[in-house]
Parts: sequence; C-alpha cells; structure tokens
Amino acid sequence: MADLDDLRDGTDFGGSAAPAGGFHLKGQAGQDWGLRARLSRVFDPADGKTVMLAFDHGYFQGPTSGLERLDRSILPLVPQADALMCTRGALRTTIPPENGKGIVLRASGGPSILKELSDEELAVSIDDAVRLDAAALAVQVFVGGENETKSIKNLTTLVDQGQGAGIPVLAVTAVGRDMVRDARYFRLATRISAELGAAFVKTYYVEDGFETITSACPVPIVIAGGKKVEEREALRVAYQAIQEGAAGVDMGRNVFQSEHPAAMLAAVRGVVHDGLTSSDAFDLFQTLSH
Ligand code: 5RP
Repeated sequence: MADLDDLRDGTDFGGSAAPAGGFHLKGQAGQDWGLRARLSRVFDPADGKTVMLAFDHGYFQGPTSGLERLDRSILPLVPQADALMCTRGALRTTIPPENGKGIVLRASGGPSILKELSDEELAVSIDDAVRLDAAALAVQVFVGGENETKSIKNLTTLVDQGQGAGIPVLAVTAVGRDMVRDARYFRLATRISAELGAAFVKTYYVEDGFETITSACPVPIVIAGGKKVEEREALRVAYQAIQEGAAGVDMGRNVFQSEHPAAMLAAVRGVVHDGLTSSDAFDLFQTLSH
C-alpha cells in the first residue's frame, strides 16, 4: 500500500503561466500532440531545421551506386543525421532500433525504373508504420504526371491514415523527365501537397524564385539533393535553399555517392544547423576529407 503519511496539499499556485510557446514548424501548431512530437524527431526543435539522410532509392532503383551495401555505406552515417528516410525493408534489415533518429518511412512504391514511375500505390499499412515507430510517412506526388490523380489519392489516403495515428506525411514532389523544373511548377506542386494535408513537402531547389515556393507553401519545405554534383556545388545549393526559406535538406546521392560521405554530411550539417556559408562548409568538407 502507498505511504499515506504526510500528504501535503499544494500551495504554490501563484505567478503567471509559463509561456505556452509556439511550435517550431510552420503551419503545424494546430496538430495533435503525437504528430507534433513525431515532427520534433525529424526537425530539431532548437532551430526548426533538419538534415535528413535519404537512402530509400532502392525501392525503385535497386542497389544503385553508393547503396550496394547499406550496412557499410549508410550505418556509419546514421549518427550525423537528424532523420533517416528509408524503406521498411532497409529499416528492419539494416538499421538498429536504438539508432535514436526520426524515421521517415517510404510509404509508396510499385513501379521500377523499367516502368512508368508515376504508377505508384501505397506500399505500407498504417499498422506497420506504427509498429516501426515511424516519425513520418513519405509519399510521391506526380503533379502533372501521367498518374497525377492516383498519386494525389495516395497522398490524401495516407494523410487520413496518418492523422488517425498521429503520424505526419511528407509529400515528395516528383517531376517527370520531360517536365519543366521551375518555380512556377514547384509552387503548384508544393501548394497542392500542403493544401491536401502534407505536414511537410520535399522539392527541388530552383535558382530563380525558390523563395516564392517556400513563402507560398504553408508547411515546411525540405530540398532533395538531386543527382550527384561536385561537393562545392551541392553545398552551395543547400546554403541557398536555407537562405531562401527551406527548413532543411533531405539529401541522398550527394552524400552517399561522395568519396567522403561523412565529411559531406558534416558540411551539410554546418550549413543547415550552424549557419556556415557554403564556402566555409566546403572548407570543412575538405578538412574532414583529409
Ligand atoms: C526518391 C526520393 C529520394 O529519397 C530522394 O530523391 C533522394 O534524394 P536525392 O535526390 O538527394 O538522392 O524521394 O524519389
């Protein structure tokens, strides 16, 4: 039986309430507690930014360059990331559950690079996402693509399921090979994604007018790294994106296809979290590479 001696009535009820505080992510203050808690495992509450390490490419590309052996290429990088974007297969087989990172679980799939990529279906049940303790669910949206409506339906279905379980959804704006990647297109794709319930949106950086994409999108935007380029250039793009309103980067190939992935990830962290300029970040990359 609990000790009932000396039960003291509370007396210290004075003073003004501690500030409730706004939530650190754009457009997400009204979400449920669990959903905000999960978002806080992806975006660092200290600055509202994230460095996500994306290695979900195998879900349609197979063992692409740099991802032949996830155990060798990705595991050593895990401590440096805020969040990991991966498939449930990679997660269960390769990532230890004690990793401590927010897991952004790839939740759509279907076609391989041999077929029409926009023909995706949802590929993870909400029950399995809960079992995997996913911090977010990622789904591809193909605005203007051959299967636009189907991919939007995937997004809204996942948002309905995610809201029920308190799991935020990341909409990944996928651009067809023959489509123009400009600010006008990405304003359209990101805004549609946010209006239909995505808690954050992944898109590409564009040189002309990126700030109009981030300002017109009512939820945080993270940028994909895109195809492998020189480290100096990838860091410049990351820096520009952050300056122009991105809440982080979700980078894959420009990290794991670098000759020095750990140095590259550290340099990206410098840009996103430590306010490094792209040239300071490149210096850091070179120092850590040697
Ligand atoms: C696949 C994805 C990838 O995770 C993403 O594009 C990876 O990033 P990167 O472009 O930096 O390799 O969403 O469609």
